[in-house]
Formats: sequence, structure tokens, C-alpha cells
Amino acid sequence: MLEYSALDSERFGLRVFRGTFGTLDPDVLLGALLANDVDLAVVRIAAENQYLLHRLDGIGLPWFAADTLVWYESPLTGLQSRPLRNERLVLLLAGDSHLSVLDRLVADIFRGYHNHYASNPLLDSQMVVAAYQDWARRYVGSEARGRFCWLALIDEQPVALVTCELAGSEATIVLNGVLSGYAGRGIYTDMVRYVQRYFGNRGATTLRVSTQLHNRAAQKVWLREGFAFSRAQLTVHVNALLDRSVRAKRQIDVRLAASGSCGSEIHVLHRIVDQVQRQCWNVDYPGARPHRFRCRLLGSLDGRDSCRVAVSYPCDGGPGGSITSLVRVSDEQRQTRLLCYCELDRG
Ligand SMILES: CC(C)(COP(=O)(O)OP(=O)(O)OC[C@H]1O[C@@H](n2cnc3c(N)ncnc32)[C@H](O)[C@@H]1OP(=O)(O)O)[C@@H](O)C(=O)NCCC(=O)NCCS
Repeated sequence: MLEYSALDSERFGLRVFRGTFGTLDPDVLLGALLANDVDLAVVRIAAENQYLLHRLDGIGLPWFAADTLVWYESPLTGLQSRPLRNERLVLLLAGDSHLSVLDRLVADIFRGYHNHYASNPLLDSQMVVAAYQDWARRYVGSEARGRFCWLALIDEQPVALVTCELAGSEATIVLNGVLSGYAGRGIYTDMVRYVQRYFGNRGATTLRVSTQLHNRAAQKVWLREGFAFSRAQLTVHVNALLDRSVRAKRQIDVRLAASGSCGSEIHVLHRIVDQVQRQCWNVDYPGARPHRFRCRLLGSLDGRDSCRVAVSYPCDGGPGGSITSLVRVSDEQRQTRLLCYCELDRG
């Protein structure tokens, strides 16, 4: 099921939840999104369940496939250790004095790298780099907790990094890369050989590593260095945006009888949403014009006396950019009955 990710939430200023699913039940997922006021859900499913992905259309909220992760494994027991190709390469366990060097390396290596975060237009690319830096920093000076961060230096110049985790007999390469100016010289190959030997000597039996499907260079190295493909996972993002608002949220209670209950229920709801959102937009974004709607009807208001209409603004693209408004209609028991996302052009 979905679990709150404090780390991602703090990094991106959103309520981020993560979960790995064996099967995809849109009602279960939607229930969890609503119950937790999720802004962004990062959902992982095994690639062999890709045929279930279409079910996500059933939640009616914005979602997209953000990346495909491929996992490889190298057995370490009895693995023949190979010499490093770069004789001048030195690997150094990073300490607190290396944090700024580490930040620079991570920024240079990952600025243009596309993983699932980079696929999401909601997440600022600067924040994505900062997330990588924060991620790498968490491995510095933490060997006692099974976390390792090595810097690779040539002639005392830091040119690459590799962070790893050791849990029991299983080691995992986490974040790793080489400065583009030093690519193609076998530095990455050497780092892989180094960590294979390091964890093999410490009694680990398996070394795991993952990357995006498109990363041919990394996979080429792994296959040459004794790794085999083990599995693939799809990452899906659901930009539910149920909590975030760049402006104060507005809440209006509407008496259903007074709102004119003639017509089918969807027409009544539509009239209510239309009235309330225009009223709010006129105050919050005067002159703004809607250009795209996406509505999801979740349940009936039949027999209810009143409903609550909440208007939030999850995104504001600034001058020249569009504004997203979200209207959430709930019944007296606070059960969500309708969600309506609207893109507005600035007036
Ligand atoms: C992927 C990366 C780690 C490779 O580092 P590197 O030091 O250049 O790697 P090596 O020199 O050991 O080997 C790379 C091999 O892939 C090849 N290669 C490089 N780019 C390639 C590409 N786009 N497609 C296919 N092969 C490629 C190289 O020619 C080399 O093969 P060769 O030895 O037969 O010539 C580095 O480019 C990088 O940091 N990229 C950004 C971050 C990243 O991808 N991290 C790793 C996984 S998350």
C-alpha cells in the first residue's frame, strides 16, 4: 500500500507517498489517495504487470509512466577480482570535509540525467538535483550503519562517486556516476570492480544495482563485470495534488436545495462547481480563463441537504505559465464526491 515518504515530501514541498503494488486496483489506490490527501504518489509495479497499467485510468486523476527501472545482480562468492584499469585512480571514503566536493560532483553528473523525478513537470529540476545531493550526503560517514560513499580521484581531482548500502549479505550500489569530461576511460568499470571486491571481502554474497532502461553505458559495464539482469519495474507518478495550494484554500458550504436541484445530478454538481470556482477565481486570479478541465465523479449527493466545496491552487506557473485549480466537493460526512482539476490561463 501507499506509505508517506517524509524524505520526498520534505525535498519537494509536497505530500509524497510511495508504494510497490503486485496488482493494481484503482478503487483501492484512489481510496488511499483521498484518505491521505496525497499530492504525488510514486507507484512501482513489476514490469510483467504492465498489462494492468490501463486500470489506472479508472482513478480519473492525472498519472503517467515516469520511468522503467532495470535491476542487475552480481554474485560475489568466488568472484575473480579484476585489477583496476586506471592506475592513477584512488578511491576514498568520503567524510564531512568532502560534502561540498560531493555536492559539486553530483550536480555535474546528474544535472541532465532523466529518472522518474525528472519526468515529472511538477518537480523543479533544481530540486531534483538537490534531492540527489541530499541522497548522496546521507551515505557520508555512515559506514557503521552499512552506508558507504566513495569519491574517485585522479591526480587528486575528484572525478566520480559511488554510494552503496550493505544489509546482511546483500550489498547495493545506490548512486553512482562519473563526470562527463572523464567518461569512456574505464573509471566506472574500476569503481564497480572496487565495490565488488570490497563487499566480497566483507562476506557479502550478492551485489545489486539498478538504473533506467535507457542507460546503456551502465548496463554495458555491468554485463561485462559479471552482473546478470534480474528484474524490471515500472514507476508511475500520480499527480493527485490533493493537499498543496500556492494560495489560501477556500471552503464554501452550499445548500443543495438553494442551488437549484433540477436536472440530473451531474448537471447540479457542474452548476455548483462552476459557480464556486468562478467566484473564487475572480478574487484570486482576476481575468484568468479556463482552458482545460478534468473531472472525476466519485459518488452521489442524492438526498443530501448540503455539500462543501473546497477550492485550492496546487500550481502556479508564474508569468506566462498556467494556474491549476482544484475543486473538491464533499458531502456532510466529508466523503469526496467530485474532483475537478482546471488549467487556467492568466488574465
Ligand atoms: C554511465 C557512466 C557511469 C559511465 O561511466 P564511464 O566511466 O564512462 O564508464 P566506462 O568508461 O567504465 O565504460 C562505459 C562503457 O560504455 C560505453 N558507452 C558510453 N556511453 C554509451 C552509450 N550511450 N551507449 C552505449 N555505450 C556507451 C563506453 O564506450 C564504454 O564502453 P567501452 O569500454 O567498450 O568503450 C557515466 O556516463 C555517468 O556517470 N553517467 C551519468 C550517471 C549514470 O548514468 N550513473 C550510472 C547509473 S545510475
